[in-house]
Amino acid sequence: MSNKFYKLKVSGIEKSTIDCSIISFDIPLDLYEQFSFKQGQYLTLQTKIDGKEIRRSYSLCSSPLDGEWKVGIKKIEDGKFSTFANEVLKVGDELEVMPPNGNFYAEIDKTNQKNYVAFAAGSGITPIFSIIKTHLLEEPKATFKLFYINPKVVSIILKEELEALKNQFMSRFEVFYFLTREHRSVPLLKGRLSEEKMEMIFKTICDTNQIDEYFSCGPEPMILMIRDFLLKNNVGKEKIHFELFNTTGSNIETKKKVAQTFKGKVADITILEGGKSMNFKIEQGSDNILDAALKNAADLPFACKGGVCCTCRAKLIEGNVEVLVNYGLEEEEIEQGYILTCQSIPTSDKVVVDFDS
Ligand SMILES: Cc1cc2nc3c(=O)[nH]c(=O)nc-3n(C[C@H](O)[C@H](O)[C@H](O)COP(=O)(O)OP(=O)(O)OC[C@H]3O[C@@H](n4cnc5c(N)ncnc54)[C@H](O)[C@@H]3O)c2cc1C
Ligand code: FES
Repeated sequence: MSNKFYKLKVSGIEKSTIDCSIISFDIPLDLYEQFSFKQGQYLTLQTKIDGKEIRRSYSLCSSPLDGEWKVGIKKIEDGKFSTFANEVLKVGDELEVMPPNGNFYAEIDKTNQKNYVAFAAGSGITPIFSIIKTHLLEEPKATFKLFYINPKVVSIILKEELEALKNQFMSRFEVFYFLTREHRSVPLLKGRLSEEKMEMIFKTICDTNQIDEYFSCGPEPMILMIRDFLLKNNVGKEKIHFELFNTTGSNIETKKKVAQTFKGKVADITILEGGKSMNFKIEQGSDNILDAALKNAADLPFACKGGVCCTCRAKLIEGNVEVLVNYGLEEEEIEQGYILTCQSIPTSDKVVVDFDS
């Protein structure tokens, strides 16, 4: 995984809603290959805000078929990057951008006759829109049903684009808009998505036996509810794809426990990256490998620092770690020894991790 950033010019900024800007980038021809992407992938953006480097990930909301690189950034109250992007950033400004990354997608196959279902809430529509558009355009027999949750009609991000897609693929694409703070006459579409509503959807609108793949993107509780509901209804794990934009700090208790258990013991850490090796010591159980290495002036790849994006993935060559959260790595990768270094706390005398593996 490259941690290289490229300076890209902002070529356009449009408001999709009052607090969500769609930002387009100019990609120079010599970077086309590096910036080629799959539907559902994200860019990591970085800039200095109040003198501090801030980096955040944003899903591409354009399709790879568009020849455009667009992200939709929703302003979050007191959010550093999202406020900057919505209130300060101008066309012509430059941002540091890491090439596309992520595995929130299913492979495209023109011969597919698959039925897809997607769930999105708020800004979670960005990767989902790219996924829907690409499958509909590339797979002539694919169908898509989207369940999209927002507070009000005015807060629906990419509404015009979704309506245009609906008109273009009338027989293959359906959208169900749920509103949580505005009236809807159909009870199903009023309020948040719940387990009861999932029951209703899969009784009246679609049948899990006829759906081939599921995508969801939104707040952690919604994503986990959808995942658990589908698993309970015998949907295979491999058919359920989800992307989380942030995670709750549910690991605080584990963190405290690990710190207490390993207090006073030293871990000798070796980091292998880019053909180089660095070494430093920290107290076992005290900090995750990524943060500890960054504090020791390492230049390592990372983005979300929340166990979601996998940018900080590395192989544990020697030693033990306590993993706090993992929403990104597949079981296979874990079995092969991969860890998310932003979530891995050293718990042995010696720990060696390899970012080049
Ligand atoms: C793979 C990936 C793809 C993403 N794609 C998008 C995208 O397409 N569009 C988009 O708008 N965002 C997206 N995000 C989220 C984005 O990276 C930032 O986390 C978000 O913009 C907040 O950053 P900030 O600097 O404004 O807020 P911060 O300054 O980091 O946080 C401010 C406060 O808001 C809380 N907070 C942080 N993120 C959220 C959130 N998502 N919802 C509610 N509260 C939050 C924090 O806990 C904190 O209290 C994505 C994240 C990941 C990991
Ligand atoms: S930086 Fe995103 S998972 Fe570690």
